[in-house]
Amino acid sequence: MDTPIRTATITALMGVVTLGLLAGGAHRAEADIIKGPHLQALRTDGITVVWQQENAGPGTVTINGTVYNSPSSQTLHEVTITGLVADTTYSYTVDSDGITDSGTFTTAQSDPLACFEFLAVGDNRSIHEDHTTVVTTLLAETNARFLMNTGDMISAGEVAADWQFFFDIEYPLIKDMPWYPTIGNHESDDDALPVYYTDFLAPPTDTSGTENYYSFVYANSAFLVLDGHVDVVPVVGGFSADQMSWLNAELTQYSGDPAVQHIFVFTHEPPYSSKDGRTGNYNLRELLREASDIFAVHGVDAVITGHDHYMERGESPAGIRYYIMGGGGAPLYPNESEGDLGSKPATWEGLFTDAHTVHYAQSIHGYLRVTVCNGQVDAEVIGITDITNPSGPTVTVVDTTSWNTGNITPPGPDAGVTDAGVADGSTSQPDGAVSDDAAVSPDGTTPQTDGSTPGADASTPPAATDGGCGCRQTGGDAPGLVFGLGLMLLGWIRRRRSRQR
Ligand SMILES: [Fe+2]
Repeated sequence: MDTPIRTATITALMGVVTLGLLAGGAHRAEADIIKGPHLQALRTDGITVVWQQENAGPGTVTINGTVYNSPSSQTLHEVTITGLVADTTYSYTVDSDGITDSGTFTTAQSDPLACFEFLAVGDNRSIHEDHTTVVTTLLAETNARFLMNTGDMISAGEVAADWQFFFDIEYPLIKDMPWYPTIGNHESDDDALPVYYTDFLAPPTDTSGTENYYSFVYANSAFLVLDGHVDVVPVVGGFSADQMSWLNAELTQYSGDPAVQHIFVFTHEPPYSSKDGRTGNYNLRELLREASDIFAVHGVDAVITGHDHYMERGESPAGIRYYIMGGGGAPLYPNESEGDLGSKPATWEGLFTDAHTVHYAQSIHGYLRVTVCNGQVDAEVIGITDITNPSGPTVTVVDTTSWNTGNITPPGPDAGVTDAGVADGSTSQPDGAVSDDAAVSPDGTTPQTDGSTPGADASTPPAATDGGCGCRQTGGDAPGLVFGLGLMLLGWIRRRRSRQR
């Protein structure tokens, strides 16, 4: 049964948007920062702050008195912040040639057994009103450490105006929440990557040497983001030899690392899906289905995707969980599995060459919320319905799954975690705390704590606020939220009118 959640909160945020409009929300209209600032490549000791300003000029990021200069004096700026303390919340101010803007972020947790929460959403393109409501809903996710976007953020990657829509709408969210992009078919242009993707985004390139596909580790989990649309084999489709080589090396490394308890793979197109006649890149999907066997060998927890505009959770024959989180704002598709869940034969819909199982499918907007705590993973599909209601949408948990890959006993005399080995489908929690910030409440949220972060020294910019829980500090930022949300809508309305002309 669907469980209503936070409808009151979303309604309140929608009210905040209205107040912002009434207030006129002028600061963005006068600013020369036209995209961002937004947060990329979160690390334990820093982050990358990205923005675009209207006129070429210098730029800086200031954190508690420490000034980081942009390497560019052009319109695009990517400033890599280093020397920060793990698991600590910082306020930052961007100075764009005299125009300032600010935000807040929390550095990554260094404790490999720290509990954390992340979100995943995809397919924001085309319907800006619905995308706006999804973003407004995501603003209520104050426990999330970062957001994964599974691609198709914009309608046409080679059109600058589409990126402007995206960043205008996303601005209140991604100025405070680090996020990671995935290349979708709409980001690519005839298998080429338009310059805007690399201009506006800065995912980590440490392991791959490219922004097209990449990986990072957060606490005890590895995140692999694949590119199925640009770094591909021409004509045939599917991943390039370089990308496959990198993927195999990454899987081998992470699956052999005892500190990595979970592996999450992100790619735009899903290996399986439930829309009649939905073929997409058939060769890519075939490859993904074959890769699902490889994923199973290496113990991948889940493959999280988009492309098909609905919400679905299924399972490959080898037992790999796949999620389709295509409910970020694009026009919804019908989902033939609604009311017809369960095992699908190899010939089902005439698209797939092997059988698979559909556990949940619904043609609604939404996103995925994942809580990781030691070996335990709790994955909730958050559904957004009644999305055009001016009083706010209805937000519900529409699907919940938990699994446990085996807990690790933390060092120290007070270690109390045992190898729980909870079977897939259980909602049981680990039977012991694994770190200072490990406690997870029954509703899946991580409660705030006031534990200070050790290790700060005089050479490190002091933290503005403590981030012991990893929660984004939204409570004291209501005026900024008012103006940000109001301006976001104003910008959208102005551009829509301009476009209609
Ligand atoms: Fe797509």
